[in-house]
Amino acid sequence: MNPLSLAALEQTAQRAAENAYAPYSKFPVGAAVLTANGTQFSGCNVENASFGLTICAERAAIFAAVAAGETKITAVAIHTPTLKPTAPCGACRQVMREFGTDIKIIATCKGPERIETTLSELLPDSFGPDNLGETGVT
Ligand code: THU
Repeated sequence: MNPLSLAALEQTAQRAAENAYAPYSKFPVGAAVLTANGTQFSGCNVENASFGLTICAERAAIFAAVAAGETKITAVAIHTPTLKPTAPCGACRQVMREFGTDIKIIATCKGPERIETTLSELLPDSFGPDNLGETGVT
């Protein structure tokens, strides 16, 4: 994967974190998704006074890509203005799985530490769209 586009993706995630709406947790998160045709989509966490309605940054970015008709995800960058990088939560891992298995995941933060991994490492032996075919559901 082009290192330049990944560096740009990290910057997009960092900028998105500045727009996070996180008045309750005070934990801003920004995410950026790179799709197979090289387009980037960004998202941030958006919380709600009814706490359960909160959406994570990663899912916001993925849903923006899908809304634009792009369902092949190749990389996801996540940024938090923390000392340690933040890995995506389990729900977001499963949502990523819907749109690819070979997805590169990068998490950056204020400090020098970073996470560089893949979705299959974070979500091994995963359940996905193919499983449904086995029962004739799809
Ligand atoms: N959050 C994300 O945006 N992504 C994650 O992967 C973990 C958690 C958000 C949800 C909530 O607004 C805040 O971080 C604290 O959980």
